[in-house]
Amino acid sequence: MWKPLFGEHKKILSKYNQLNITLGQGNSKLKITFRLFNDGIGFRYEIDNQNSITNYDIINEKTEFKLSKNDTAWWIPAFSYRRYEFLYAKTPIDDISKEIYSQKVEDIRFDSIEIDAAHTPLTIKKENGIYISIHEADLTDYSSMTLAPKGKGLLEAELYPWSDGIKVKADKFIKSPWRTIQISDNSSGLLNSNLILNLNEDPDESIDYSWVKPGKYMGIWWEMIGTNESTWWPSEHHGANTDKVLKYMDFASKNGFEGLLVEGWNIGWHPDWCCKGEGEKFSFTETQPDFDINKIFNYGKERNIFLVGHHETGGQIENYENQLEEAFQFYNEHGIKNIKTGYVNDVSKNIKRKNEKGEIVSEWHHGQYMVRHFRKVIEFASKYKLNIITHEPIKDTGIRRKYPNYISREGGKGQEFNGFATNGINHATVLPFTRLLAGPMDYTPGVFQLNNFRYTNPGSNIIDKKAIIPSTIAKELALYVVYYSPMQMAADLPEHYMKHPNAFDFIKNIPVDWENKIIINSKIGEYVSIARKDMNSGDWYFGSITNEKERNFSVSLSFLDDDKKYLATIYSDSNDTNWKNNPMEYKIYSQEVDGNTKLNLFLAPGGGNAIHFQEIID
Ligand code: NOJ
Repeated sequence: MWKPLFGEHKKILSKYNQLNITLGQGNSKLKITFRLFNDGIGFRYEIDNQNSITNYDIINEKTEFKLSKNDTAWWIPAFSYRRYEFLYAKTPIDDISKEIYSQKVEDIRFDSIEIDAAHTPLTIKKENGIYISIHEADLTDYSSMTLAPKGKGLLEAELYPWSDGIKVKADKFIKSPWRTIQISDNSSGLLNSNLILNLNEDPDESIDYSWVKPGKYMGIWWEMIGTNESTWWPSEHHGANTDKVLKYMDFASKNGFEGLLVEGWNIGWHPDWCCKGEGEKFSFTETQPDFDINKIFNYGKERNIFLVGHHETGGQIENYENQLEEAFQFYNEHGIKNIKTGYVNDVSKNIKRKNEKGEIVSEWHHGQYMVRHFRKVIEFASKYKLNIITHEPIKDTGIRRKYPNYISREGGKGQEFNGFATNGINHATVLPFTRLLAGPMDYTPGVFQLNNFRYTNPGSNIIDKKAIIPSTIAKELALYVVYYSPMQMAADLPEHYMKHPNAFDFIKNIPVDWENKIIINSKIGEYVSIARKDMNSGDWYFGSITNEKERNFSVSLSFLDDDKKYLATIYSDSNDTNWKNNPMEYKIYSQEVDGNTKLNLFLAPGGGNAIHFQEIID
């Protein structure tokens, strides 16, 4: 048993049988270690220091996963123009290709890189009904693994190469990440597995991480991403101005939030900042003239709320690394504890770097160069006692166990894509079984104004009628239980929360550190219901979400503690709620319950249900 500092469980069982195999030829030895858990298997390759060899160039890794051609996969394309922000395709394994993805989900045929592969975690339902997820654990100084179909259900590891074609560059020894396969009889079992964390290491004993605290934050953010009222760059609609920040701070601190994200506070923002990695360089220590960081810090300090810092790098890594220490020091001086970082640089193979010959070359977002970069950032952040929430990150492979300050990350199509485009109605019920199997996600739930929210441009009074968030208010609440993240955002604007103060209570109350979780029911892409017990009280929370279909669930509350009574406050869609044309109708009702109660719950099309169970103490 080991105890995470915070998380989804108070204690985690790590129990496995291990097999070590050494393959040798002369003095050259390759070790393969297998760990077999009740919920799956991990294996890794190691080549120890071999005196005569001082460095390695790995040109291929031939790991294969032999499945069957009738197995079904939920997947997103690798080697494509974005990083991981794609909707999921559901196809037979052999159909993992850009061509099929373009026919079924989104046209990516313009991508010139002719490699067909899927990112991990790759979720598969085998034809015999077994569910598996193939991923990797402890991705350290290596390239990330994708899976390329080779026909008849065979998948082969395909590593992202450096710009010179080498996949991995190693010095005296090689240690691959664990290749992992989580296995379960049903989809809910996948959500219960801790195999990825179990294959990672504890934090370095010499580093105290007790300062890392989970929390909730709001932001001057949705104004740019969602409602489109404000700009990141200097303009009369600049979002990050001191007056506005102080108003947000008042609202957020009164409602119990620990942090306020403010984007667009620094020099370098420009209308063309996005997305080619070649705009004006960002400064991470110089503020825009209307953003008075000292005043903001002092104001926040009196109200016990701190800025969540923001470092959008635009994918300009050298510029960021050159300022890293100074930038962290600057934030330290202003009471900042959490930083959201960002790496928008589309085309994906567009991270510019000066190579050994002084030439500018372009690296993949997912290769060893970036794996090293993300590690460097988190190590520096530990030194400065800062938590990192990365958008456009490298995928999570459980290194948050060793670095608890890697507190959350996006790494998938999150809510923001509903702001400026749409994720469609069925995406939210796929994420728990795909992206979220890797680890916590900064999805940014909690949008209450689900239609008529977006202006055609900053300063315009014209609402974009077509923009809708495919959800309901009850579902937005349920997401706080269903999607785990130790830093949870309440993404919407204060004025939208003020319209629904009773529903907002759920977001104010919900904790971010859990003692336990129980998966109540699930079907990939259709519905999922989860109950979680608060770490710091006797309270339980429940969240259930559905795709476009309405559902009636009879939920047994046998997960509640046997001898206790609870007041259940139920946040439900009403009979007339519908994600398409009536998303903001809900009802809130209470009833006394115990472990013998069965609740009949209604979820509208595209909707959800959220419950807070408060222990009744006589
Ligand atoms: C993309 C991030 O995902 C988003 O949250 C952020 O607001 C923009 N980049 C600007 O940094």
